[in-house]
Amino acid sequence: MCEKCRESFYITTPIYYPSDKLHIGHTYCTVATDAMARYKRMKGADVFFLTGTDEHGQKIETKAKEAGVSPQQFVDAIVEGEHGVKDLWKLMNISYDRLIRTTDDYHVSAVQKIFKQMYDKGDIYKDAYKGMYCTPCESFWTASQLKDGKCPDCGREVQPAEEEAYFFRLSKYADRVRDLLVNTDFLEPRSRVHEMVNNFIDPGLEDLCVSRTSFTWGVPVDFDPGHVVYVWVDALFNYTTALGFMNDRFDEFQRYWPANVHFVGKEIVRFHSIIWPAMLMSMEMPLPKKVFGHGWLLLDGGKMSKSKGNVVDPYLLAQRYGTDALRFFLMRTFPFGSDGNFSNEALISCINTDLANDLGNLVSRTVAMAQKYFGGKLPMEQEGNEEKDAQLLELAGGLRDRYEEQMEKYAFQNALAEVFKVIGRANKYIDENEPWRLAKDESLKPRLARVLYNLLESVRICAGLLRPFMPATTDEIMTRLGGADSRWESLNTWGNLPQDVAVVGGGALFPRIDLEAELKTLEELTAAPQKPEEDPLPEPLPEITFDDFQKVEMTVVKVLACEKVKKSEKLLKFTLDDGTGTPRQILSGIAKYYQPEELVGKTLVAVTNLAPRKMMGQLSCGMLLSAERGEKLNLVMLDDGVQVGSRLV
Ligand code: MSP
Repeated sequence: MCEKCRESFYITTPIYYPSDKLHIGHTYCTVATDAMARYKRMKGADVFFLTGTDEHGQKIETKAKEAGVSPQQFVDAIVEGEHGVKDLWKLMNISYDRLIRTTDDYHVSAVQKIFKQMYDKGDIYKDAYKGMYCTPCESFWTASQLKDGKCPDCGREVQPAEEEAYFFRLSKYADRVRDLLVNTDFLEPRSRVHEMVNNFIDPGLEDLCVSRTSFTWGVPVDFDPGHVVYVWVDALFNYTTALGFMNDRFDEFQRYWPANVHFVGKEIVRFHSIIWPAMLMSMEMPLPKKVFGHGWLLLDGGKMSKSKGNVVDPYLLAQRYGTDALRFFLMRTFPFGSDGNFSNEALISCINTDLANDLGNLVSRTVAMAQKYFGGKLPMEQEGNEEKDAQLLELAGGLRDRYEEQMEKYAFQNALAEVFKVIGRANKYIDENEPWRLAKDESLKPRLARVLYNLLESVRICAGLLRPFMPATTDEIMTRLGGADSRWESLNTWGNLPQDVAVVGGGALFPRIDLEAELKTLEELTAAPQKPEEDPLPEPLPEITFDDFQKVEMTVVKVLACEKVKKSEKLLKFTLDDGTGTPRQILSGIAKYYQPEELVGKTLVAVTNLAPRKMMGQLSCGMLLSAERGEKLNLVMLDDGVQVGSRLV
């Protein structure tokens, strides 16, 4: 195809918050985007696939503070570090063309220019903001938008907030956005249009608060220090800055904008289908052609979240079952536009049924028979049987068109179902033709050769169409089919496989998994570590006066020597420097918790005016302070800088 006639196709994933490690839900959308990008590339389109990370905002600032690092260090670790975002996409074989980080300098300066342009136009103005704020979602809500007084997105508590802020004239664009949603196919699935129009647009679109002063981790508004750009304005424009809009780092903007499709999760459809087009209208830029709001992967019917502790780790699963198996499962099992319930059982059953049994067996049986009966290379002399072959030929021959129809609608599950119908039919074709019976009669060899050819050709077409989902598996199958052709153009041409194809053997593509045993192992591997049970709090003591407290003399002491007391399991004998120049002897019942030698040189606290008493025949002049909770005792230790003999007050 000539370079100029190539259709360009720009597809994006949402950019992820690196506030925690990514889980299987994030992986789901990225795998879907990757499958679509690979499919379009296979068809010859000039594809640009963008992913990235959304690194500003209060949540990141707070988390970094909790971790005792700078926000930049915090996000760097999650994006670039071991098992971080980049590692995950590598493991999942994600073929993105660019990964934008919103802390990249070219993006930051572009966002500043964009903000200024909307301000100069009068679409951004300064006012005071009063509203309710959801910190985890970084969203302001009006009272009418709250659901039972809580954040309508995540259901969590919101706090009243007021600050001087900049506003975007969202209300000005309400009619145009409504028209876009209702009268075009900009937003899919269609059900999401009703949700947007009924819940957000028709009740009245208010202007949007687009700057913050309560924290600093964001893109600074360069003409008004103290304000940072609202994280969603910063984030949404990534789709354009990553191509070079308002910066000279890249120069693909003309070539790829507007995007063909933004894949986004359902909870961020509002931002992508209302705020995003309105801001683009303000910037007088072409609008993306489509926003597709996919469903969530649920766990036990609820959303996965780090705070609920129910996230599924894609690393564990990909490393255990293989990247292709996990990618396939995600796309084969859940309808892209709706929610789906993730379970380990569904994953393993899918691998066993579709991959080990249906696809894996078809490939290995067919290749093995070609080896066994023809030494690996089919003879040219072959004999068809119209009646017996018709159904398989028709089904496999027309597969590419049916698959394409589904893929163009982003109906990944249906596209894969079409492929597996043919795989199922091919397996049945083996039983109908009984190659092992044909092999017994020399005169039936031409028929046997044709049966095997038909099977291998069906495998080629199916495996070719599985490429966007399982690229490595497709490569492997094509190798086994003697380096067969898997280009798009060859996949609706029955008979592209050379008649005298020479096959190559190999092990099981997907070994069968023992469901029961594996479920147990997975449970053990993913079980949250048991928190040690906390000892009960000690009973409170009756109140005392300050005078009572002052009667107790507590002195800083240093351990000069320490040894076990003979015949006692509990007692250690301490020789202490208490600053008086005369060593003091104290016995303490902590032998269970410390080795005597580890305590020598430590700085401790002793009650030094306690009446002496005898224990196991030895005199104890005072008591060492220790913290007690349940059974456990910890000596109170001070750092070595505290001077021996100091009094505790
Ligand atoms: N940073 C924003 C997106 C800005 S795009 C300009 C964001 N980030 S996120 O990390 O919280 O979520 C990224 C995507 O992952 C969202 O589309 C979200 O729907 C998706 N998912 C997060 N959990 C999910 C599931 N359990 N299932 C499916 N997708 C889910 O939102």
